[in-house]
Amino acid sequence: MIFEVRVFYHQSGSKSREWPGRASNTDVIFEGMKKVSLTGIKPTGTPHLGNYLGAIRPALELAQTYQPFYFIADYHALTLTAMHNAPALRESIYQVAATWLALGLNPEEACFYKQSDIPEIFELNWILSCFTPKGFMNRAHSYKDKVAKNVADGLDSDENINMGLFGYPCLMDADILMFKSHVIPVGKDQKQHIEFARDVAHRFNNHYGKDLFVIPEPMIREETDVIPGLDGRKMSKSYGNTIEIFLEPKALKKKIGSIVTNSQGVEEPKDPDTCNVFKLFKLFATADQSADLAARYRAGGLGWGHAKAELHGVLESTFSEARARYNVLMADTALIDKILAYGAAKARPVAKTLIEEIRETIGIP
Ligand code: ADP
Ligand code: TRP
Repeated sequence: MIFEVRVFYHQSGSKSREWPGRASNTDVIFEGMKKVSLTGIKPTGTPHLGNYLGAIRPALELAQTYQPFYFIADYHALTLTAMHNAPALRESIYQVAATWLALGLNPEEACFYKQSDIPEIFELNWILSCFTPKGFMNRAHSYKDKVAKNVADGLDSDENINMGLFGYPCLMDADILMFKSHVIPVGKDQKQHIEFARDVAHRFNNHYGKDLFVIPEPMIREETDVIPGLDGRKMSKSYGNTIEIFLEPKALKKKIGSIVTNSQGVEEPKDPDTCNVFKLFKLFATADQSADLAARYRAGGLGWGHAKAELHGVLESTFSEARARYNVLMADTALIDKILAYGAAKARPVAKTLIEEIRETIGIP
C-alpha cells in the first residue's frame, strides 16, 4: 500500500511547497492511504498477556480498517538500566518481533519496523522536546512513580532515573506524530502519553499555522484497559507478576498455579467477579463458556485448582498454534531481521518526507 502511495507521490512531482490552506505537503503521501493506527512495544522482556490484550490484539483487529504501523520501541528500552545489557536487549527485540508475527501480523500489509531503523524519529524527538514544557515531563506518571518509589525506599529521589526516562514521553510523541497516526491502541497506562502527543501536535501546528501533525486519539478498551497480574496488581514486567504469552504447557500451569486467590474451601460458593483467575478466563473464553464457569463458581463445589485448570485450557487453545509459529521464528532470527528491514524500508520514506517538511517549516535549510 505505502509503496503504491510513494509511486504516486514521485509521479505527481508534487514536491512544491505551495499547498492550499493549512494542508501539509505530506498529505500527498498519505492521500491514498487509509487512516493510520500505530502502536509500539518496548523490548524489555518477554511479552505477556497484558501486552496481548491491551495492545497486540486490538492493534491486529484495527488492521482491517486502518493502515497499521507496528514497531518495536527498542531505544525506549534503554531508559531501563536493566536493559543496558546487549544480549538481553537483542533477545527481547526478537521475542517482541516473533510475538507479533506469530499472532498474525502481516508484514506485507503493515509497516512493521524497529524504531531504531528510522533515524528521523530521533530528529523529531529533539524538535518536539523543544516544544514540550518541562512541567509536562515532571507530571508524567511513569517518571513520578519512579520518584515516589525511590522516596518510599529511602533513596535519593533521582536514583536510577536517567534523562532518557525523564524525556521518554517526547520520544513516544515522535513515534506517533512521525506517521500521522490517527488511533493508538494501548493499555490505560499509556493514556497520559497520548495526551502529551496531542498537546504538542496542537502547539506545533498552531505555532507554524500549518497542520503538519495529525492529532492522535488513544484507543483504550474498557474491558482490557488494565489486565491483572498474578498478584492482582496491573500485570507488568516491572512487577514480576506476568504470564508470558507463549509459555510451554507445563510452565504455564505453574504460572497459573501462582495466581493469588482467597482461602475459600472447595465447597464454598465463590464470586467470579472478584477472582483474578475468572477475570483472565473471561477475556479468552466465549460468552457461553464464561456464563457456564461463573455459574459453577456461584454453585460451590468448584475449587481454585479447577478454576485454574479451566484458565489453562482456554489459554492453550488460544495460543498453542501461535506458540509453534513463535518457536519457528525464534529459531530463525535472520528471517526476523529481513522482515524488519523490509518494514523499515517501507516506513522510512514516509518519515523522511515529513521531516523534510518540518525542517523547512521551522527554518532549518
Ligand atoms: P510492561 O508494563 O510490562 O513493561 P509495556 O509498557 O511494554 O509493558 O506495554 C506495552 C503495551 O502493552 C502498552 O500499550 C501497554 O499499555 C500494554 N499493557 C502492558 N501491560 C498491560 C496491562 N496489564 N493491561 C493492559 N495493557 C497493558
Ligand atoms: N511507551 C509504550 C509502553 O511503555 C511503548 C511505546 C513507545 C508506544 N512508543 C509508542 C506505544 C507509540 C504506542 C505508541 O508500552
